[in-house]
Amino acid sequence: MSEKEELTRFGVSFPAQLIEQFDQYIIEQGYTNRSEAFRDLARRALLEPSRLRSDQVVAGTIVMVYDHHASELPSILTELQHNFHHSVISTMHVHLNHDQCLEVIAVRGKLSELRALHQQIQVLKGVVYAELSVTFVDEQGGSSHSHR
Ligand code: NI
Repeated sequence: MSEKEELTRFGVSFPAQLIEQFDQYIIEQGYTNRSEAFRDLARRALLEPSRLRSDQVVAGTIVMVYDHHASELPSILTELQHNFHHSVISTMHVHLNHDQCLEVIAVRGKLSELRALHQQIQVLKGVVYAELSVTFVDEQGGSSHSHR
């Protein structure tokens, strides 16, 4: 959140038991106040995949675990990522044990493209797990962002 962003206060009514459970949840999640926890929940709800348009430009990751002994799988995965080279920013590969590899692919592009890549990965034989998570990219507001 930018420092200039204006905050609006509003009251929320909760049943006692629900707020008790919620307070326990936010402590477990490491929040120090309810407001930040509510803001994050709201942002997460707005990023529900069903709410994003497929032509929207998003950034995110595809996290996957696969068995590198599965026939041809490593080269199929490499081929696939080359086919989507406009969407793939970077890949991190971790050798989990003798058989399994963890791969994290940073992606950016139209949601439809990223979903296509994810779907093609998850159906491959030997891929035990593949998950796409994305966050919305504001293309107009992008230029005002800076790192110190
Ligand atoms: Ni490996």
